Amino acid sequence: MSTNPLDNKAQAWSALFTEPMSELVQRYTSSVFFDHRLYKADIQGSLAHAQMLYSVGILSQADWQAIEKGLLQIRQEIDSGQFEWKLALEDVHLNIEARLTQLIGDAGKRLHTGRSRNDQVATDVRLWLRDETQEIIELLQALQRALLSVAEQHVDVILPGMTHLQVAQPVSFAHHLLAYLEMFSRDEQRMREVKQRTNTLPLGAAALAGTSYPLDRAQVAKLLGMVNEQGEPQICQNSLDAVSDRDFAIEFTSAASLVMIHISRLSEELILWMSQNFAFIELADRFTTGSSIMPQKKNPDVPELARGKTGRVVGHLMGLLMLMKSQPLAYNKDNQEDKEPLFDTVDTLKDTLRIFSEMIAGEWDEKTQSRLGGLKVKAERMKQATLKGYATATDLADYLVKKGLPFRDAHECVAHAVKESMAMGVDLSALSLEKLQSFNSSIESDVFEVLSLEGSMNARTTLGGTAPEQVRAQIHRHTKRLTLA
Ligand code: ARG
Repeated sequence: MSTNPLDNKAQAWSALFTEPMSELVQRYTSSVFFDHRLYKADIQGSLAHAQMLYSVGILSQADWQAIEKGLLQIRQEIDSGQFEWKLALEDVHLNIEARLTQLIGDAGKRLHTGRSRNDQVATDVRLWLRDETQEIIELLQALQRALLSVAEQHVDVILPGMTHLQVAQPVSFAHHLLAYLEMFSRDEQRMREVKQRTNTLPLGAAALAGTSYPLDRAQVAKLLGMVNEQGEPQICQNSLDAVSDRDFAIEFTSAASLVMIHISRLSEELILWMSQNFAFIELADRFTTGSSIMPQKKNPDVPELARGKTGRVVGHLMGLLMLMKSQPLAYNKDNQEDKEPLFDTVDTLKDTLRIFSEMIAGEWDEKTQSRLGGLKVKAERMKQATLKGYATATDLADYLVKKGLPFRDAHECVAHAVKESMAMGVDLSALSLEKLQSFNSSIESDVFEVLSLEGSMNARTTLGGTAPEQVRAQIHRHTKRLTLA
C-alpha cells in the first residue's frame, strides 16, 4: 500500500471515499490546468506557514528544513518545465503537496497542519494578485509617461474640442491628451488602494473556524509582506470571511474594467481620428493591418481590439459578481471559478497597457537616439477642421457680453452671424467688420483677435482650462508626480 495518501485520488482527502471518480467529474472539478499558474504563490505561502509552524514548536527543525528544501526543489522543477501535473490531484495545492511527500516522506504530510486548502487558496490568490497589481501600477505609470511625452510636444496644436461629436471650441491637443492622463492617474490610485486591501492574510482561518493550533498569524503575514505602510501585519480578522469572500478580486476587476473603459474611449478617438474624414493622426504601421482585398486600406486594429477586449474584461467583472452573489458562508467550491476570469483580466490588461504605451510614444531606438513610431499628429488638419466648425462663436458672444449685452441676447446675435457665414461658406473670422457690425453695432476691430482660434484658446485661463499656460502648468505637475513615482 502507498504511504502517500495523495497518490490515490479516491483517497486524496480520506478513506471515506470508496468509489472512483468518473473521468468527467474529475475534469469538471479539477482546476490544476489553470490554477498551476499560482504555483509560486502557493510555495511562498507554504514556506511561510512551515517556518511559522517550526517557530511555534509544531514542526521539528529537521521537518521544517526538509519541507523548505523540498518546496524549493519543486519550484525549480516547475520553473524548468519538468514537473508533472496530475489532473487526478485536482489542483495546484494537492499536486505540490503530493510531490513534496514523494520527495521527503512524512515531513511533507505535516505541512498541512493547522491549514486547509480554503485558507491556502485564498492566500495564494491574494499574493499572486498583489504582485500582478504592482506590475499593473507600473504599466499605468508608463502609459501616463507616454501620453505626457506626446502632450509636451503639442501644447500649441489646436484641436476641435467636441461636444455631441460636433465642433464646440478650440482646445490644445495636449489638453485633450492630459484628460486621459487624469483618468489613468485615477486608475493608478484605484489600483494602489485595491492592492493594499488585497494584501491581507487569510492563512490561519483554516477550513472556516480557525484552528486549535497556536499559530502565529502575524509572523506569517510579515514573512509574506502582508503589511501596511507602517509595517504592521494585515490579517483577515474573521475566519469565515477570510476563506469565503472574493471581494478583493471583484474590486480589482472593477478597477481593471475602468482602465479598459478609459482605453476604449481613447481607442474610439484614435479610430475616428485615423479615418479619412478626420485624418488628424497616423498610427505607426506596426499597429495597423491591411486588407486582403482593398489595397489602399490601413486599419487601426490595435485600438479596435482594445475596444473589443473592454467588453471581455467588463464581462469578467459581471461573472465574478454573479459568482459571489448567492454564496452562503463560508467556503464553497463556486470560488474555484474566480481564477480564469481573474487571470484573463490581468493578461488582457497588461498586454493592452504595454501596447498602448508603445503605440502612443513610440519605441526608444538606441541607434538613432530617438523615438521611432508613436502617434503622428497632423496639426494642420486639426486646425482646418476647427476653422470649419465656428468654434469661436462662444468667444464672440462673450465679447458682446463684455460690451454690455446680456448673455442671452449675445447668444442670439451670434446665432444670426453664424447663420450668415454658413450661407456664405466662410468662418466667422472671415466676415468683414461692417458685416459683423450689422449684427451688433458695438463690435469693433479688436473682435478679430477674439475670433481667432489662438485667441479663443489662450483666453481660457481658468485652472484646468485649455490655455497653453494652464496646460504647461499641468504638464509640469504630472512630470513631477511621475518622476517621483
Ligand atoms: N481549488 C480550490 C479552489 O480554487 C481549492 C480549495 C478547495 N477547497 C475545498 N474545500 N474543496 O477554490
